[in-house]
Amino acid sequence: QNCAIRASFLHFIANPADVATPADSYQYFADGLLVIENGLIAELRDYRADDAAKYPQLQDRSGQLIMPGFIDTHIHYAQTEMIAAYGEQLLEWLDTYTFPTEQQFADKHYADKIAQFVINELLKNGTTSALVFGTVHPQSVDAIFEQAAAKNMRLIAGKVMMDRHAPDYLLDTPESGYAESKALIEKWHNRGRLQYAITPRFAPTSSAEQLTLTGKLRAEYPDTYVQTHVSENKNEIEWAKSLFPECRGYFDIYQHYGLTGPKSIFSHAIHLTEDEWQAFSATDSVIAFCPSSNMFLGSGLFPLKRASRDKVRVGLGTDVGAGTSFSPLQTLCDAYKVLQLQGQKLSALDGFYLATLGGASALSLSDKIGTLAVGSEADLVVLNWAATEVQQLRMSNAKNLEDKLFALMMLGDDRNIAATYVAGHCVYDAANLSK
Ligand code: GUN
Ligand code: FE
Repeated sequence: QNCAIRASFLHFIANPADVATPADSYQYFADGLLVIENGLIAELRDYRADDAAKYPQLQDRSGQLIMPGFIDTHIHYAQTEMIAAYGEQLLEWLDTYTFPTEQQFADKHYADKIAQFVINELLKNGTTSALVFGTVHPQSVDAIFEQAAAKNMRLIAGKVMMDRHAPDYLLDTPESGYAESKALIEKWHNRGRLQYAITPRFAPTSSAEQLTLTGKLRAEYPDTYVQTHVSENKNEIEWAKSLFPECRGYFDIYQHYGLTGPKSIFSHAIHLTEDEWQAFSATDSVIAFCPSSNMFLGSGLFPLKRASRDKVRVGLGTDVGAGTSFSPLQTLCDAYKVLQLQGQKLSALDGFYLATLGGASALSLSDKIGTLAVGSEADLVVLNWAATEVQQLRMSNAKNLEDKLFALMMLGDDRNIAATYVAGHCVYDAANLSK
């Protein structure tokens, strides 16, 4: 149950944007020792020569880099088999590819199969926590929670609510969406490390009646999360506004129905107006930044620096299947390019903060995950600095730690993930797979 690991360690203690010098935002131990007791981090410090004798079971991972496990703040697990679907932007993409794929999750056995695949894929990519969309079918949420519980993962998920503007076979009703979500909350919320997110797909697929009942549910369970989409695509924005003409804008629809707040996570938020940025700040609502998806669907460029200026919390999301990779490293590589296209920079420290402590803060969980602070839950990713010949050459040429981290962020993928720990247990080990 208890264990000690020798490796290099990196974790964040503050947002790089909030401190005078970036070095104040993180701790790095080139040769460190991490002690885990009962699934929690008990100690993190420099390695000492007598530690080998003190910890006979010491796991020697010298030369590898350990960070808090990555946090994916937006993923649709049911869209896995339609990842990389050709040619469409958001609204046509939903009709052509997404809805037919999600229909299959009416079958629990099918949902179980994909849920197991996705949980393994997350762990293989170093992701230890995620905020997950199911489908309209309650059993899709049972399936992902069951698989996450089997690994003791900290996972948040919810049943999609949508009662219009999708094929009949995927619609619930205001009453059934409310009742099914409520039953899932009673069944799963705060069971072990699992938590529930109330999940209206996006404003265009919910009637005013459904959003009213969704707001009622939210008020009845203030400890749960809300997850949805906002301002992803220009046509989507015009459509949302036309459906709710009494609201001042797209984000205002969610405000109107009581769905904003510190535990409400909105994916994309690319094309916000000044008023909407202010409303995000004022309500302390959260954004999931999904750069891979935003480029893949041609949605637009998220202004991350604007969010940090307004102190709006942001997490990183793969948004699979509109995002084209499960890898937070690849997603950060895309984030860097999205900022470059806006004349902005994403340093390696900014990037790894986003994928760890930033994500935890976005989910109001920074007291539990996203950090290696003593007392936090021992969810870890173990990285190899170089997994390919190109990476090796680049690393050997790196100037300093930040440069090495940047090369890892740009060139890394699942091949760099050596192992993943959840609550102190090794749940993925690349070395064991190849033996
Ligand atoms: N907006 C509403 N539904 C979806 C979805 O499934 N994916 C993305 N990227 N945006 C959406
Ligand atoms: Fe999405």
